[in-house]
Amino acid sequence: MIDRSSISLSVDQLAFYENNGYLVIPNFASRTEIKQLREEIGLVIADAAHNSKAIFSTTEKVETDLTYFLESGDKIRCFFETERNVDGSLAVNKVGHALHELNPVFTEFSSRPSYKNVARQLGNREPVILQSQYILKLPGVGGEVVPHTDSTFLYTDPESCLGFWLALDDATQENGCLWAVPGSQHIPLQERYVRTEDGTGTTFIPMVEHLTAFDVSKKVALEVDAGDLVLLHGRLVHFSETNQSERSRHAFVLHFVDNLTTYPQNNWLQRS
Ligand code: FE2
Repeated sequence: MIDRSSISLSVDQLAFYENNGYLVIPNFASRTEIKQLREEIGLVIADAAHNSKAIFSTTEKVETDLTYFLESGDKIRCFFETERNVDGSLAVNKVGHALHELNPVFTEFSSRPSYKNVARQLGNREPVILQSQYILKLPGVGGEVVPHTDSTFLYTDPESCLGFWLALDDATQENGCLWAVPGSQHIPLQERYVRTEDGTGTTFIPMVEHLTAFDVSKKVALEVDAGDLVLLHGRLVHFSETNQSERSRHAFVLHFVDNLTTYPQNNWLQRS
């Protein structure tokens, strides 16, 4: 029986994380928990479709509505793929960004002591959840996520962003698993994604004098089983490809930061 309430990372695991910027913790979630989270997101999406008919029934091309996105920091909102399902309906790309606060099932799961417990072992003195995302990556329509670093989007001073990417399906190259560039967390943060001064738009601001494009030539595929947790350093370059398979690739992602750092007021993610 695996004790999932308290996880003690070994010296080798900590060294692997230090060198590579990621670490896979097998069997973080049980089959029962996976089933529960998957069922709950079905209810959340059905509820959103019922309450936000205008958003779900649009026949227009799905445009990125920046206001809808910028207001989502303390809400549960559905975001869509640019491709549609075969029946023409909108395909949900992800649900974010406050499932951990507003939905009892996700709140309970996100409150597992093991999350904070691991975050502390990776250097966060006072770990707090900044955002939660349920990513669906649906068969045939799940789009790619281009190479990026999470600290670009979830910056603190000093940097403290930690990603906890929990597979809720077996993730393989066919259904669009994560890819990472080992060691890329040693490269300084290149950019920050911030709100423009009037708060209505967003932009990237450089953090280094000369921006360097991400080099993904040494990428590795993070193929994991459902229930495995992938820890991601905030500066690790990672991405995923489209889902070309007939299987979904669900994942529940939490981002922690250290509460003892400064959270800039121009970060894109703000709470109303
Ligand atoms: Fe990411």
